[in-house]
Amino acid sequence: MRQVLSVTSECIPLVKTGGLADVAGALPGAMRDVGWEMKTLLPGYPEVMAKIKAGKTVLSDKNLFGGAAKVVEASGSGLKLFVLVAPHLYERDGLPYGDASGKDWPDNPERFAALCKMAARIGSEGAGDWLPDIVHCHDWQAGLTPLYLSQSSGHRPGTIMTIHNIAFHGFAPKEKIGLLGLPRDGFTQDGYEYWDQISALKAGLVWSDKLTTVSPTYAKELMRAEFGMGLDGLLQSRSNDLVGILNGIDDKTWDPATDPEIANYKTPRGKRTAKTRLRREFGLPVSDGPLCVVVSRLSHQKGLDLLLEALPALVDRGGQLALLGSGDKELERRFAEAAASHKFVSARIGYDEALSHRMIAGADAILVPSRFEPCGLTQLYGLRYGTVPVVAYTGGLVDTVIPVSPMTLRGKVATGIQFHPATSDALARALMQAVDLFADKPVWEMLQKNGMRQTVGWQASAAEYASLYEKVAPAL
Ligand code: ADP
Ligand code: GLC
Repeated sequence: MRQVLSVTSECIPLVKTGGLADVAGALPGAMRDVGWEMKTLLPGYPEVMAKIKAGKTVLSDKNLFGGAAKVVEASGSGLKLFVLVAPHLYERDGLPYGDASGKDWPDNPERFAALCKMAARIGSEGAGDWLPDIVHCHDWQAGLTPLYLSQSSGHRPGTIMTIHNIAFHGFAPKEKIGLLGLPRDGFTQDGYEYWDQISALKAGLVWSDKLTTVSPTYAKELMRAEFGMGLDGLLQSRSNDLVGILNGIDDKTWDPATDPEIANYKTPRGKRTAKTRLRREFGLPVSDGPLCVVVSRLSHQKGLDLLLEALPALVDRGGQLALLGSGDKELERRFAEAAASHKFVSARIGYDEALSHRMIAGADAILVPSRFEPCGLTQLYGLRYGTVPVVAYTGGLVDTVIPVSPMTLRGKVATGIQFHPATSDALARALMQAVDLFADKPVWEMLQKNGMRQTVGWQASAAEYASLYEKVAPAL
């Protein structure tokens, strides 16, 4: 089997703040099925250290940005891991990227440069007798890896940089060029410089052999000024190396037939029971309208402020909203307020994996009104569970939902509702359409069944990654 090192800052079931963790956790299994052994390098945050049993030390460094560090092997949950143990960088209370209040750690440039340095060492020297053919980097946290690799004289694996979200560059002040050990002549417009700062993501995009993002539509959007966050020109110049490969979902964790959070779900009665329980759990009264859910980070990206404005279109027609999310404090406050003032709205502020399963199982529709969405996973969970997605027309939402139209209804292929542009008016119209379609039982059932038939696993995408790896891996 050929070998690939995946470099990531989060990975289920060890540490997660968003979809990156789901993808990093599911890829190794999917890649194994297409002939690639993937090992994952991850920072040793306290929650990771608590869940692993550390094995052999494969690399060490006496002074990695101010303290001793080592890379240890570990395994568990079907993953083969390398964990970077560096207490001075990772052993802190709070979140992977910041303190408990969400404020970024000031030394994030060093914290993730450390990850990249060790990734580059594994790539060029190997770890024990394991030497990767490919190093696959995820988002800015892994972005400096290909640049560090280009500075080393050892083995040269092929490099892939995957953009999960271009909104995060991983900036560092240029004064850190020396500290981070970056080549000064790379601090140019064609290199890792971005408006006089270091951009870790840009380094990854310039120095990697191939670039991917998580849906074909987002790949095209990234080359446009509205979505490219200043990197659209660079991505246009590398358009021959950029490919959109759609995320799958972990279809074992998200399987309505075996989900421990729900019982007998595959039968229509199972869905009805899940819905009744969900209403009870959220304190929502019985109503004829659709029960809609949101499971999301609360951030500008996700367009949930648009939902707050569009809510009357849903609740005044008998529809209901149950939301689970956390993040932006102002949005948290506004959703709590909406829940307090309307009996058809209920909100849980927090993060709760088990509840997210019960919500997606019990709801009629799942709302994803994002302003931009590289892929999005919750609409895929919705499809699998017969929970109709109502989504914005952007990124991966375009590639995963077949919108209701006279044509798709006649052809019996529609799986959800899409709205455009990303405004509260357009969303309100989509919510009204959801209420109307929900009242038309045969049509709604057709949407549910079409969605449940859609393939949402990793098989096809793993094959695409494999063929990309083969293009850049060193010859055997
Ligand atoms: P993003 O990565 O931009 O946040 P995705 O849709 O790709 O968006 O992935 C989000 C992941 O995080 C999904 O698995 C979703 O179910 C999960 N998630 C988001 N917010 C919560 C929450 N409050 N509680 C439980 N799971 C959540
Ligand atoms: C990012 C994106 C999301 C995507 C996830 C996994 O966080 O916002 O759309 O599904 O990464 O690739």
